Formats: sequence, structure tokens, C-alpha cells
Amino acid sequence: LSKKVEMTNWEKGHYINYAKMSENLGIVRSRLNRPLTYAEKILYSHLDDPEGQDIERGTSYLKLRPDRVACQDATAQMAIMQFMSAGMPSVATPTTVHCDHLIEAQIGGVKDLERAKGINKEVYDFLSTSCAKYNIGFWKPGSGIIHQIILENYAFPGGLMIGTDSHTPNGGGLGMAAIGVGGADAVDVMANLPWELKAPKVIGVKLTGQMSGWTSPKDIILKVAGILTVKGGTGAIIEYHGPGTEGLSCTGMGTICNMGAEIGATTSVFPFNDRMYDYLAATKRSAIGDFARDYAKELREDEGAEYDQLVEINLSELEPHINGPFTPDLATPISKWKQAVKDNKWPDDLKVGLIGSCTNSSYEDMSRAASIAEDAMSHGVKANAIFTVTPGSEQIRATIARDGQLKTFEEFGGMVLANACGPCIGQWDRQDVKKGEPNSIISSYNRNFTGRNDANPATHSFVTSPDLVVAMTIAGTLNFNPLTDTLKDKDGKEFMLKPPTGDGLPSKGYDPGEDTFQAPPEDRSSVSVAVSPTSDRLQLLSPFKAWDGKDAVDLPILIKAQGKTTTDHISMAGPWLKYRGHLDNISNNMLIGAINADNGEANKIKNFTTGEYGAVPAVARDYKAKGIQWVVVGDWNYGEGSSREHAALEPRHLGGLAIITRSFARIHETNLKKQGMLPLTFTNPEDYDKIEPEDKIDLLCTELAVGKSFPMRVHKKSGETLEIPLSHTFNEGQIEWFKHGSALNMMAKKNA
Ligand code: F3S
Repeated sequence: LSKKVEMTNWEKGHYINYAKMSENLGIVRSRLNRPLTYAEKILYSHLDDPEGQDIERGTSYLKLRPDRVACQDATAQMAIMQFMSAGMPSVATPTTVHCDHLIEAQIGGVKDLERAKGINKEVYDFLSTSCAKYNIGFWKPGSGIIHQIILENYAFPGGLMIGTDSHTPNGGGLGMAAIGVGGADAVDVMANLPWELKAPKVIGVKLTGQMSGWTSPKDIILKVAGILTVKGGTGAIIEYHGPGTEGLSCTGMGTICNMGAEIGATTSVFPFNDRMYDYLAATKRSAIGDFARDYAKELREDEGAEYDQLVEINLSELEPHINGPFTPDLATPISKWKQAVKDNKWPDDLKVGLIGSCTNSSYEDMSRAASIAEDAMSHGVKANAIFTVTPGSEQIRATIARDGQLKTFEEFGGMVLANACGPCIGQWDRQDVKKGEPNSIISSYNRNFTGRNDANPATHSFVTSPDLVVAMTIAGTLNFNPLTDTLKDKDGKEFMLKPPTGDGLPSKGYDPGEDTFQAPPEDRSSVSVAVSPTSDRLQLLSPFKAWDGKDAVDLPILIKAQGKTTTDHISMAGPWLKYRGHLDNISNNMLIGAINADNGEANKIKNFTTGEYGAVPAVARDYKAKGIQWVVVGDWNYGEGSSREHAALEPRHLGGLAIITRSFARIHETNLKKQGMLPLTFTNPEDYDKIEPEDKIDLLCTELAVGKSFPMRVHKKSGETLEIPLSHTFNEGQIEWFKHGSALNMMAKKNA
């Protein structure tokens, strides 16, 4: 295991460390003394402190050292801005950035890409120069979708990666634990802080039998989603195992892991097998495949490993599935499909079929889909609905262009879109139906929540395999089952579509296509990061001020929020996402969704200095301009929802000192600490009721200490003063974050 094998062909000097992983596992094994699942092996072999770490699935918080970080272009903006403010010369963990989310599908790949390069120029320039400066691999617009590029170039068996995108788990197709996180977590790992994860439970999915005919790997996850539902995987890793895994292609396993995000799973993994080896070899990484074979014993579950829950699927009996509309866990097997369309009155006229996306755009997917299109064309019929194709990467596009599938799709009536997310993330200038008009579309994507693809809440979006997308597109109606129904050929004669066929890997090897990678230059010192001071989308971050060493007295309550206050209430998404790289501009959405306990209204609070009512961000800005720090009082589970770091950055930016709640969602609580704020909770949750919006608060910051209650004095308008005990969860290291003004300030000082 002491071989020196590089993690990827695109970087020098970053080696796969199976020796260290094996050593860590040995330590953990001797402590736990029980068989381990594969998911556990990957995590525990990446522990920061294998000797001292508490390990209990579902309970302890693991401190981990991931091998890699990957960011897509939307989330990378703020992550890199934050990293820059740490003042480090280079990322501490190998990192890549991928431009895929900002390209709108309109008239076809080439033109759409050109237009996106113009519209997003300042974002791309910033990302490309900051990546060059801080030693980050940069994949330009047009290179492909992050998860496909990761599978093709960076994922390796047994590795641990975090990515700022929910479908990062796609890397599980190569036996990697690839986990989707918020930007703040990515910044930590880039800046060499250990990454914290609640030790996941492990749900085993045992596969037996073998697939055939119209059934494809996608149907495994469509079925699993139906069984476990959108919440069923929360806090757990889904671990596939059993003899049925051997027959699946590597990219097919990627598809299954990718869509595990739809059931809330932390990630999904497959054990290392020969199909992964073949894929590594086909993508010019045989050395990694050979090295993985040396370590193969640890790249699967131990004999007798126990799962917290076990699901079994016999692939020989698995039917093709179609899931949706509006939720990915409403799973219908094809045998019940036509009846379901009828019973639910789903619009049966199919408007659009879409294949590709990070979930289903492999060579195998494209080949199988093309085989169906060809079969149809041999009978003189083509697509009977709009049909779009999104290749997952430039390599896939170039390879299917060379091997003919792309031409088949075009002849079939398809529009080939840019190698990017496109309609999957709503980047779709859809013209064929009006807003509000009920209609059906079917895709090989993963998510189908209301409005996701085209912002039309009446669009019924179904997800399935690319095979069924093509079959349905030929039929032009949802009222079709290719396994049992006939179609009419050009002369009106009936025929049945043949089940799809296609190679898992290109027999002539992959064609890399255009070079879309920008490696960091040797000499990075002369690179300057491009951010225009007049940009409204990007703004460099200045480090937050350190704590002044004093108690804070007489602080106003900006807002006493009542009821649910999720990260969406604190930092709304939608149109605001445009400003995600510009902290000052996006701060104009701070807490605008939170309900003011005083008047039951959103975004209407009293400015105590003027007595006038105003919007929350405006009042906060006024206080900030007047040098007045403030606090927010919140209800139960404040900050639940996503891990969006803006929800913690914004209050800090606009001059907040503390958020005092009945309880916090843990990730948001940690994010607040990272930004140098004080997340505090009422020791007696009913004390929330004693607080009135016009009270003034003293926070005795000088008394902040691990495990000790935090004293708060409340000055009532009547002149009365209350002492209300608060609790906190700061540890020693986190108190240092507060003192330095933020976790990054502390890292910056350490690295200075
Ligand atoms: Fe992109 Fe859709 Fe995947 S947004 S990363 S193609 S889920």
C-alpha cells in the first residue's frame, strides 16, 4: 500500500493514501471490535483523530479529513470569497470548480454557451482568476456537469470528497463517499480545518438477480425512492451490496448514488468491483484501478456487517419505473403506469422529453437512448414531442459525436444542449407552453419539484430512465407502455420498439473533445483576482472585526421572530441567488421572510432610534451606520433547512452580535459561530415569552466559557431588569473563532 499513485491525472503530487487509511482503520477496528460496513470504513479511515474520536452511528460528530473538495459555479462564488478572506496562499485540500449551473438552454448548445459566457462574464472571470491564484483546478463553461467531470477525472474507490452541490454523491459510482455540503463546510476544508459530520446511520440495499430488457440502473433508485420516500435517507448513507451490484456499469452505479440525494441520504456508495476497474481504465486511470485492487479488502463491507435498516431488491423482477409528478418518491412501475395517468388525470399529451443531466448522461445512457431512436427511425418515425439532449461532459459530447449517437438524436428531431445543467436547474427559456398551462414533461433528471425546470407550477414533471424518456417521446403521449404496446410506422403498420442496447464504455475509447480545463499556473504570485468594484454580483469580503474584549450593553432587538424561521426566511433564494457572490447586495434579503412577533407581519419592524417601521435589512443597516450592534430573538429550531452560509454571513455583515433562540438547527448554529456570531439559547425555553421587542439586552461576553451558562440582562421599558440565563454549545476552539471575529480570521492568523 506504500505505492505512490496520484489521485487524478490533472494534478501533481496529491497521492491516494491507502496506507494511512488502512492504519486508521486498524486503530478504529481495535476500538470497536465489530465488523464494519463499507460506508463506515471510508469515513473512519478519514478520521482526524482515530484514537480519540467518539464513534456511534447516528449520535457522535465525526471530525474528518476529506481528500478533495468540488464546487459548482453558483456555490463557488461565496465559498471562494470567504476562503480569500482567510489570507492563505493556496487551498490546503485539492479543490476544483466547475462551470455548469449558469448556462441557459434556449436554442442549442453552441449558441447558448456563447451567450452564457457573455452574461456571466464577470462571474467566470472571477472564478477563473481566483482558481488560478489559490491553486484550484478550473473547469470552464462547456466542460460539463460537475458530477460527471468528477466521475471521469477525480473520484476514486475509498476516497472521501465533499462538494457544494446536492448531487455530489454521484461519485459513489466509483466507490467514493462523495457528500453534498454548504459553502461554509467547503471553506473549512479548503482552509485545513477538519470537517464535521454526524456519524451517519447506514441503510443497506441488497441487490440480487440481474436486470434485462427495458430495466436500467435508474429503476433501482426510482424503486428505492418509492420505498424510503423523500425523508427516508436522512442522516444515513445508503450502501448497496450483494451479487446484483456486479452486473451494473460504473456510470449506472453513479446514477443510483446521484439520485440518493432525493431521499435525503448523506450519500450512497457501491463497493469496488471490476466494472469500476474497467471505467478507471477507460478514463486513463488503470494505476488507480490496480492500486484499488491492492486495497480491495477494505473497499467493501466486512463479513457480518450490520445495517440500521435493510432493503432487498431482486433485479430480475425489477420493472422500469416512472416517478412523479412534483415529487421524486411517487414511484409507479410501468405495468401500473397507464392506469395511474388515467386515475390521477395527469395531462397525457407529452410536451417535452429531456435526456442527460448529471444523473443520466453517460456513454451507456446515450448509446441505449440512441438505439431506441434508431429503431424508431428504421420504422420511419421520429420524436413526437420536443426532445432535448444534455451531454454530461465535453468528453461524452465529443465521443457520441464521433460514434454517431449525436447525429442519431439530431435526425430523430432532438436539440443538443450545452454540456451543462440547463433545464434541470431551471435554466430553460421554454416557449412551447404558457405559464400556468397544465402540461407534462418527462426527463432522465433527478428532481421534479414544482416549477424546478420551467418555473411553471402547472408543469407535471416526471423522472425516469433515458430509455423510457425516448420511448415516451416517440409515442408523444404518457399513455404508452413500450413493453406491451405497439406504435404505428410511417405506413400505419403496427410495430413494437425493441428493448434498448448499448455499450457501457466506448469501444474506441473516450474522445476528450475540446480542452476545457485550466490548471493553476506554476507561478501564482502574479495572478490578480478579477473583481470589479462596481459589480453588483461580486464583492470581495473584508475580514469581520475581532471581538473588542468587552461586554455588550444596551443592544436593541432587531426582530423577535415568531414560529418557523428557516434559512429560506433568513436568506431567501429565488431571484436573490443572482447576488450570492455579493454579500452586501444579498444582505437586502436578510430575514425578510421572518414573522415579527410584535405585529405578525413579515419584513416590518420598528426602528427604535426613529420610531418608524421599516424593512428588516433597512433597519439593520441604519443601526449599523449608527454604530449600534443588535440581536435577533428566535423561536424553535431557528435556521432549519439548507446549510446556506449566507444566512449566517448576512446578520454578521449587517452588524448583528447574537441570535438568541429557543433552539437552533445545528448546522446553522455552527455556521453562525464560524462567522463570529453568538448563537445562544434560552436555558428555559419559556423565557422566550418574557422578551418584548422593545427590550434592551446586555450580553456579558467576557463570561463566555465552555460548559458555563451565559448571562443576559434584559432592561424592560418599565425600568425593570431581568436576569435570564442562556446556554451555548461553544467549545474552546469555537470561542477562539468568536474572539478573532470568525473561524477564518483565526485560520488566517494561524497561517500568517
Ligand atoms: Fe446540475 Fe441538475 Fe445535476 S442542476 S448538477 S444537472 S441535478
